[in-house]
Amino acid sequence: MELYVDIADIDVIKEIAQYFPIDGFTTNPKIFTQAKQSVSVLMAEYKKYADENGAKVFVQVTGSTATEMFEQAKMLQSYFGAQFVVKIPAVKEGYRAVRLCKQAGIPVAVTVVHSMMQALVAAKAGADYVAPYVSHIDNMGADGVGCVAEMVTAFRNGGYPCKVIGASFRTVDQIKNLAVCGCQAVTIAPALFDALIAHPATAESVKGFDKVWSETFGDKQVSDLLPK
Ligand code: G3P
Repeated sequence: MELYVDIADIDVIKEIAQYFPIDGFTTNPKIFTQAKQSVSVLMAEYKKYADENGAKVFVQVTGSTATEMFEQAKMLQSYFGAQFVVKIPAVKEGYRAVRLCKQAGIPVAVTVVHSMMQALVAAKAGADYVAPYVSHIDNMGADGVGCVAEMVTAFRNGGYPCKVIGASFRTVDQIKNLAVCGCQAVTIAPALFDALIAHPATAESVKGFDKVWSETFGDKQVSDLLPK
C-alpha cells in the first residue's frame, strides 16, 4: 500500500518521513491555505525533497475549465518532473482535462471523489489514481470504506490499472479496512500517523522489558554484553 502524508508544510513531511516509510505527499487548495510558508517557497522545497528522495508530489489544479486545468498541469509537471501527479477534481471539466493530461503523458489523480461511478469514469478516462474522500462519504450517511471496496473490485474486474488513494480519514480503523479491501494507497493527515503504530499492549510490554533488564543488568545495554 502506498503511503502519503496529506499536508503542505515541508518540515512536517520531513519529520514524518524520519519515522514512517512514506511514498510522498498530497496537497490541495485548502491545505495550502493552512500552510506556514508561502506556496512558492513550498513548491521549491517540494521539488528539492522529491528529487532527493524519489517522493511523489501531488498538487491540485485550481482552474475551472479543462483548458485551464490542462495548462496548469503542464506547467506543474514541467517544474516538478517525473515525481509529479496532478490532482484534478471529479467535475465535468475535470474529466475532459484528465484525457488531455493523459495524452500529454501527465500522471493524474482524480480527486474529491464521492461515488463509485465518478471513480469508474475516471479510471476509464485513464486516471492513474482516484481519491475518494472516505470521511465525507461516511458523513453523508453512506459507507466510505464500502465505496472504496467497490472501486477496488470494479477496477480489478474491469482490468483498469487505476489505483485508489483513499483520503479524508478520522480513524485508523478506516485506514485498516481500506488496506484489508485492497486499496492501493492512502493519504493521511499528520495527526493520524502516530496512531497507526500505537498500541497500549506494546507500550506496556516494552516497559516490562526495560524494568526487568535494568533490575538485572543496571545501565548496561545489550551491546555492552558482547564478548570482548
Ligand atoms: O486529501 C483530502 C483531504 O485533505 C480532505 O480533508 O479534512 O476534508 O477530510 P478533510
